[in-house]
Amino acid sequence: MFITVTRSYDEMSQRAALLVAAHVIVKPDTVLGLPTGSTPLGMYRELVRMRRETNLGFSRVATFNLDEYVGLPPDDPQSYDFFMRTNFTDHVNLRRDRVFIPDGRARDLAAECRRYEKLIERRGPIDLFVLGIGQNGHIGFNEPSHALQAETHVETLSARTRRANARFFGSVSKVPRRAITMGMGTIMKAREIILLAGSKEKAEAIKRAVKGPVTPAVPASVLQLHPACRMFIDSSAASGLG
Ligand code: F6R
Repeated sequence: MFITVTRSYDEMSQRAALLVAAHVIVKPDTVLGLPTGSTPLGMYRELVRMRRETNLGFSRVATFNLDEYVGLPPDDPQSYDFFMRTNFTDHVNLRRDRVFIPDGRARDLAAECRRYEKLIERRGPIDLFVLGIGQNGHIGFNEPSHALQAETHVETLSARTRRANARFFGSVSKVPRRAITMGMGTIMKAREIILLAGSKEKAEAIKRAVKGPVTPAVPASVLQLHPACRMFIDSSAASGLG
């Protein structure tokens, strides 16, 4: 695991965007794995700026999102589909048929998980995966548990995750109880991974992910086993590393 501590959230976002841009320039048909949430917002803003000001081209890029809430339609402002369109994909020249997000409204969720996993297998491997991290060490919606599932699956969200995400929904009771998420095995197949963390609320999770044992109780700790995983974290998120 390589760790770069940045002075600020903005520097973290710029570095992440530069790395994504470098991949896209070197390999125009790059396959990206992408997260949602507060953390990557600055990176997406920077990529949109680069597209506008430097003509960075995404026309051959494919993107796979990590996860989606079960039950939310794509036009729900809290769905990850909506998030991606408003913050990124509508503002760069990505082709709509190369943007992939699990369908949280599928009738048969198990079949949808299998379909998504197959799609990643067919279009992959993912060249660069950008990840955030939950306060409890979750990656995607792989929640701390006694065992991790390798492939895309339906996960029941922990009380802590639902509390953390209540800020987007107005109240905890409105946060969906389940989500489709890629499994840690799916994520670990990526050629290269960067994990972003830019606030002090993430310091404990970062410490356990980097310094603790590799354990399903801290899903992010599994990234220690990846041969090309880098963290871009600001100094507040790095404060537990000593
Ligand atoms: C989102 C995702 C989650 C978030 C994590 C941190 O697609 O997979 O694992 O990365 O919950 O969220 P923020 O960035 O909002 O703190």
